[in-house]
Amino acid sequence: MLRANHKRTIVATRAGEKSGLRGPGAFALLGLTLLLSCACLSCSSEPGGGQMLVAEQPFGKTDEGQGVHLYTLRNANGMQVEITNYGGIVTSLLVPDRDGNLGDVVLGFDDLQSYLAGHPYFGALVGRYGNRIAKGRFTLDGKEYELATNNGPNHLHGGIAGFDKVVWNAELGESQEGAYLKLTYVSSDGEEGYPGIFSTAVSYTVTNQNELKISYEATTDKATPVNLTHHSYFNLAGAGAGDALGNILAILADRYTVVDETLIPTGELRDVTGTPMDFRKPTAIGERINEVKGGYDHNYVLNSGGGKLALAATVYEPKSGRFMEVFTTEPGIQFYSGNFLDGTITGKESKVYQKHYGFCLEAQHFPDSPNQPGFPSTILRPGETYKQLTIYKFSIK
Ligand code: GLA
Repeated sequence: MLRANHKRTIVATRAGEKSGLRGPGAFALLGLTLLLSCACLSCSSEPGGGQMLVAEQPFGKTDEGQGVHLYTLRNANGMQVEITNYGGIVTSLLVPDRDGNLGDVVLGFDDLQSYLAGHPYFGALVGRYGNRIAKGRFTLDGKEYELATNNGPNHLHGGIAGFDKVVWNAELGESQEGAYLKLTYVSSDGEEGYPGIFSTAVSYTVTNQNELKISYEATTDKATPVNLTHHSYFNLAGAGAGDALGNILAILADRYTVVDETLIPTGELRDVTGTPMDFRKPTAIGERINEVKGGYDHNYVLNSGGGKLALAATVYEPKSGRFMEVFTTEPGIQFYSGNFLDGTITGKESKVYQKHYGFCLEAQHFPDSPNQPGFPSTILRPGETYKQLTIYKFSIK
């Protein structure tokens, strides 16, 4: 329905950004572009007079020959996200700075080939289990399971071919809330070692409140661990613009899960007070990073306790004025400061991603929960529905 011409829209949006058009100028250009594109893009009028748009374009084929698409979701303010159904990856996220300039705040690539070649989970949907399961083993209802190990001795982010590397079914649409992309995937019994046929649906929605809303649901026919999350690497100063160490972070957590040298929790929940792990007061990511061996890569135990939607973290970038709030229903959030980026990856617009060029805030249950009786349970049983909601909300200060 939408294929013709939408590419022109996207190009024009970026041209507006590059030409240095600011504030009303940039929005006027965007508005004109959107108007011209209406004939070939799905659009609808909102009560506020704004317009929401969705678009779809081919994004290439996987090595197995499966066609993959790139989807665009936009809101009335010009905020725009591009997502591919390969891995459910957010490839770009344009949000305004304090002068109204749209800038891309997530790391990623321009083409599918680069994603297929391998990357550290840029923008991806992660599952069945986000983060690590020790030695890829767990016992459930008296039976021992062995998962694929893909991170030293451990299982990481769903295994060798986790949900970040599968092609999801996609449905693009618009609701009262905003433009959305609903992705669905059925993981087979035994996939990466996990029990049960596991059906999952993840919806990305862009609201007129400048939110990127990610809502997850899943069911299974056998008991299985589940811990779905999203793995965007943010830099609110702009992707590839330099390191993200000047982004000022707050995490609403008094404790974090202590890990061993293979990044598996020891079971201890440690108080952050008086340590470089304390982000209860907004602090630049780089301020104390040298005091943390290897950089930040820790699961914070959110004070909200999970179960209801609550503010988990905020990030402010002083030069651009961009402000991001992260709300989630999850009890934990992995703060990862891009420690393994090392300049070997060239991303969008030929920008080289060096150490700490992006950081992740992955809303989740705690790592290795299937082996940690003291942690909130991650076991989903037949007849139950797993639900997770996380919102990345953008504004300026
Ligand atoms: C997560 C992990 C990190 C690392 C990245 C991907 O955030 O906690 O240790 O594996 O994913 O590179």
